[in-house]
Amino acid sequence: MAGRWKNDLKWSDVTPKADYLNRRQIMAGAAAAAALAAGPALSGAKIRAVPSAYSTDEAPNSYEDITSYNNFYEFGTSKTDPAKNAHRLTTDPWSVRVDGLVDRPGNYDLADILKGVTLEERIYRLRCVEAWSAVIPWVGFELADLLNRVGVQPSAKYVYFETLVRPSEMIGQKSRVLDWPYREGLRLDEAMHPLTILATGLYGEEMPNQNGAPIRLVVPWKYGFKSIKSIVRISLVEKQPQATWNMQNPREYGFYSNVNPEVDHPRWSQASERRIGGGLFSRRIPTRMFNGYGDQVAGLYAGMDLRKFY
Ligand code: MTE
Repeated sequence: MAGRWKNDLKWSDVTPKADYLNRRQIMAGAAAAAALAAGPALSGAKIRAVPSAYSTDEAPNSYEDITSYNNFYEFGTSKTDPAKNAHRLTTDPWSVRVDGLVDRPGNYDLADILKGVTLEERIYRLRCVEAWSAVIPWVGFELADLLNRVGVQPSAKYVYFETLVRPSEMIGQKSRVLDWPYREGLRLDEAMHPLTILATGLYGEEMPNQNGAPIRLVVPWKYGFKSIKSIVRISLVEKQPQATWNMQNPREYGFYSNVNPEVDHPRWSQASERRIGGGLFSRRIPTRMFNGYGDQVAGLYAGMDLRKFY
């Protein structure tokens, strides 16, 4: 469903991207202090972003909801650990290694990646495999833009992603709860789909560390664990790549992991979800096939048995 632009979010006060990029440098020194002071207030650097027809018209969760209830095992396994611990992460300088079956491999500085793109606001539903959900106003650009710039070779069939490994700052990595780095992958056509974005912010501001700063993937029709955070490597590969949760427990977490209310997790139902934010009154709502994005993405899976390729 290509929703209408929801016009209750105002962009009149945003600064141009050049200012944002300069601000990024300035912000780096103040990052720790800012993280401590930020709280739920909208105090980060503003990012100019244009509205998108791909946004849902559902009301976004509050900034506080989105930044205080997270999954980011690199900072601990409880929902509140990332907000407590992620301020330690240095996100500037940041570069992303692009390699594998591409014409222009390299170590790309984030600022250079951002110079070539138009940042859009994409208000997407996020459905975690644990059966909670949120509506998040991301700021980002289509992954396809970057892939087209680096030149995908015809033999590439999948895209592989890795998160940073830096246990000195990512204190959850001192425990072996997962086999670091966190890894994910998409089929090339999924990666090239216009709904698939690399996000660098939310609510019109730089990405909070706990949400995957400075750059993370967002694939709204798949369970949230596919949307890998704090990316340092993107590889174009021929074979289906390793993906963290799929490796950890293939019976419970498939490679595709498209949201599907008809295929239950072995330990719980996926038929409904709890929309975060209401506290005691948080709503339980029915889960939608492909998280409500079926009109756009069902065609990618034509002829596939969605029970087998879960
Ligand atoms: N990426 C990394 N590197 N590490 C993680 O633990 N958790 C995933 C995903 N990306 C995770 C990750 C899961 S399970 C979900 S539901 C989403 O991030 C949560 O994103 P959010 O905290 O921004 O809502």
